[in-house]
Amino acid sequence: MKGLILAGGTGSRLFPLTQAITKQLLPVFDKPMIYYPLSVLMLSGIDDIMIIVSPEDEPNFKRVLGNGEHFGISISYCIQKKPTGIAEAFLLAESFLAGSPVTFILGDNIFYGHGVPQLIDDAQRNNTGATLFGHYVNDPERYGVAELAKDGKILSLVEKPTHPKSNIAVTGLYIYDEHVCEHAKRLVPSDRGELEITDLNNRYLESGQLSLSILGRGTAWLDTGTHESLFEASTFIQVLEQRQGLKVACLEEIAFRQGFITRDKLKARASFFNNAYGEYLTKIA
Ligand code: G1P
Repeated sequence: MKGLILAGGTGSRLFPLTQAITKQLLPVFDKPMIYYPLSVLMLSGIDDIMIIVSPEDEPNFKRVLGNGEHFGISISYCIQKKPTGIAEAFLLAESFLAGSPVTFILGDNIFYGHGVPQLIDDAQRNNTGATLFGHYVNDPERYGVAELAKDGKILSLVEKPTHPKSNIAVTGLYIYDEHVCEHAKRLVPSDRGELEITDLNNRYLESGQLSLSILGRGTAWLDTGTHESLFEASTFIQVLEQRQGLKVACLEEIAFRQGFITRDKLKARASFFNNAYGEYLTKIA
């Protein structure tokens, strides 16, 4: 299973914050946003990951994450010249995926919850076609929305509906089988000129190969799409980390616990940070 993160886009909804730097590198409390989706992939055991980035931001991503060696994983980059829809990711990543199934995550999606890695692991194991993850929200019209039958089967998927048929938003975390690139190639741009992820998912739905796993009450799916929600996400992480003394999405810690790096490597990395982050890594080591 390979991992793919889409971190392109113009971030215009967060201007002026994102005029000089991409949204996915903005801070969410004590880490750049990209740490959070990357942690989701690493926690599910994935160590071969491609990040799709804009040409302007590629050097910045490389400064932050490098080729992944600090985390004992492989990170490669793919340039998206102009954002033309989420599903374009599979046209860009075709040679990286090379027929492998993939766990795909949007670079601005933050998940938190004890059960999340297990849920993803189960979905990766049992996936036939594609698996989506749903989360209850107050404002479904801002997202892709799933309508479910009583037995949990998906009846419909609609992107940003004016009249949502449920409160279940489709989150930016997806698992696809090895045919995803073929499906993506057959998509046509929507009325707003984008290759829509919801159109891709509807292709799987039409062939009876789409499942949805609900992230229940014990999980948080945080929004970072507005100035207010970005600030709230930082506060959420700060409150949790300060109360527990445990970090969320600390990539070095995850790498160590997953066996991607040794204790010595973790200690060496800790000494790179002359601050509380480094002290935390030393404590873990
Ligand atoms: C995208 C998808 C949408 C999904 C959302 C999750 O929307 O198109 O289906 O619910 O991500 O973050 P966007 O955030 O690009 O508007």
